[in-house]
Amino acid sequence: MPWTEAPVGAQRWVPPHPRSIDELKSAAADCQGCELHQNATQTVFGRGAPHAKIVFVGEQPGDIEDRQGLPFVGPAGRLLREAVDDAGIDPADLYITNAVKHFRFEPRGTRRIHQNPGPAHITACRPWLVSEFALLKPELVVILGATAGKALLGPSFRVTRSRGQLMPWPASAQHPEDFPVAEIQALATIHPSAVLRADDRETAYRGLVDDLRVAAAAVA
Ligand code: URA
Ligand code: SF4
Repeated sequence: MPWTEAPVGAQRWVPPHPRSIDELKSAAADCQGCELHQNATQTVFGRGAPHAKIVFVGEQPGDIEDRQGLPFVGPAGRLLREAVDDAGIDPADLYITNAVKHFRFEPRGTRRIHQNPGPAHITACRPWLVSEFALLKPELVVILGATAGKALLGPSFRVTRSRGQLMPWPASAQHPEDFPVAEIQALATIHPSAVLRADDRETAYRGLVDDLRVAAAAVA
């Protein structure tokens, strides 16, 4: 059945005064803020250190993440962990999440083909990201690719234009008022899936690691 109305958004499922990421995660399990919950297996919430210095924001869970209920556990996640390691970032400093928390796909036979989330899904899901930030109070947010960039910095964001540079936050954000975090920085880079798809994987991978080295130095 086609979805004709604008999504109601996640806000009504977000607890008013959450005390922990676990509390947010349990609440997000029931979210019906947009239609993506209808066909996906489960909400895939962020995970990592409760006082992470660095928060990584990806796009949305993929097929494997949707089945396992954890972010970045498939091929893109494996590549990202390798890049984090090569960049010298301590995994104990990390929290990893996605801009959209349900898997959007199109069924094709027995396969489920990834579809990019649309602007309405990004907007609908944004309250979860905002509340994750409010609890974690990270020093640095690493934006992985265009979807995360649009969710955090607005629709005109382009990865290619700003990758690898530390940017002030929330001055650059579209809705600075809803990220109650002071003195936070942002850094954009390509999505690890873009490395997996690249013709010249080695160069793309090196670019990702170079960007992440900037992140490592920023929190050292
Ligand atoms: N790609 C993402 O953006 N997020 C995941 O969790 C997995 C793949
Ligand atoms: Fe809620 Fe986000 Fe899932 Fe939509 S994608 S149902 S807003 S958790």
